[in-house]
Amino acid sequence: MRWSEPGSGAHLLVTGGAGFIGSCFVRQSLVADPSLTVTVLDKLTYAGRRANLAPVESDSATAPRLRFVQGDIADAAVVGPLVAEADAVLNFAAESHVDRSILDPAAFLHTGVMGVHVLLEACLRETDRAQRGERPEPPRFLQVSTDEVYGSVAEGLSREEDRLAPRSPYAAAKAAGELLAVAYHATYGLDVVITRGANTYGPYQHPEKLVPLFVTNAIDDQPLPLYGDGLQRRDWLYVTDHAAAIHHVLRRGAAGEAYNVPGEASLTNREVVAALLERLGKPWSLVQTVEDRRGHDRRYAMDGARLAALGWRNRVGFVEGMAAAVDWYVANEAWWREARSGDWHAYYERQYGARLAASPGAAPEG
Ligand code: NAD
Ligand code: TYD
Repeated sequence: MRWSEPGSGAHLLVTGGAGFIGSCFVRQSLVADPSLTVTVLDKLTYAGRRANLAPVESDSATAPRLRFVQGDIADAAVVGPLVAEADAVLNFAAESHVDRSILDPAAFLHTGVMGVHVLLEACLRETDRAQRGERPEPPRFLQVSTDEVYGSVAEGLSREEDRLAPRSPYAAAKAAGELLAVAYHATYGLDVVITRGANTYGPYQHPEKLVPLFVTNAIDDQPLPLYGDGLQRRDWLYVTDHAAAIHHVLRRGAAGEAYNVPGEASLTNREVVAALLERLGKPWSLVQTVEDRRGHDRRYAMDGARLAALGWRNRVGFVEGMAAAVDWYVANEAWWREARSGDWHAYYERQYGARLAASPGAAPEG
């Protein structure tokens, strides 16, 4: 039985598996396939939390099949032996916040470019070993990417063959990682697949991102800093669907291909904020207009036909997903208060201090 068949006893290396989407992937994959084993390699930056894996680390049905290694994907000495043991490598590891990439791009390049290169080199060595008959199959490398590599899309839907036109340091680093992966496929024949996910929301997301920031600020009756006119448009994807779509592409995607993973709702930021405030029962008057993000992408929107042709359908609609997300933050206050400690206050002041001080006031409703 090939490792890509469910129940085959595959061993996956999941980098960035203590972050928001990576930990969801690990939690749901270990439960869905009792034959699966997973090694998580995570640097535990400010965004990575061991607590995100607690549900599977504390459950006797899953804990023996999960190993956690703290380390950097750009460290070849750590990466090499872990890739040697893996049937497939899924790279979720990244610096993932656009606003931080505008303040400090260097870490984005370290992980998004050099880190991806180290992972690909390790996969190349294992591919060579497979060719020499020293392992049964070469490893598959799945690079978790984003719709932001297409840049701002004024109209229509981005298709996988469209030109990449990233406009933030975050998106540029993600595009570079993808291009490296495709180059290793074309040049060395590496088995590579790429997913480009839409804006993702749900439990365990670091509160720097729009949905958890606004939910947790609103719980505390703190201002919600809405950039510019708030009419920027995103496509919203619930995290369990994003993680399951990645698993689907891992097992069924064609080598060398990229797959868009669209969401279920194309909404302006104002519409998203109105939805989360309604669920919380908090007033719109908390929303403050603040100075816009530099180079702010106006709209992302993707065509999902290629992924649909692989047999994939999202399961969670926006109303249901937003209700579940908001309710999770209400019920898990200790989790997000911990995430809003450490360097959080310095970051918040740097990102929002002057913006809120200069705010013209409550954002007009509607
Ligand atoms: P996240 O910031 O919550 O998690 C990133 C994880 O990577 C953290 O656990 C962090 O500790 C780890 N990490 C960072 N640098 C590392 C390094 N050098 N070595 C090892 N581990 C490292 O991010 P997320 O929202 O879960 O995003 C996961 C992936 O999905 C990223 O590649 C991101 O670009 C992509 N993505 C995210 C979204 C979204 O809306 N959140 C949408 C599409 C794609
Ligand atoms: P974000 O969650 O940072 O995701 P991305 O930039 O990757 O799409 O932001 C989602 C949208 O919300 C984006 O248009 C920027 C906007 N936004 C605000 O208006 N205020 C904020 O404080 C944040 C974090 C985001």
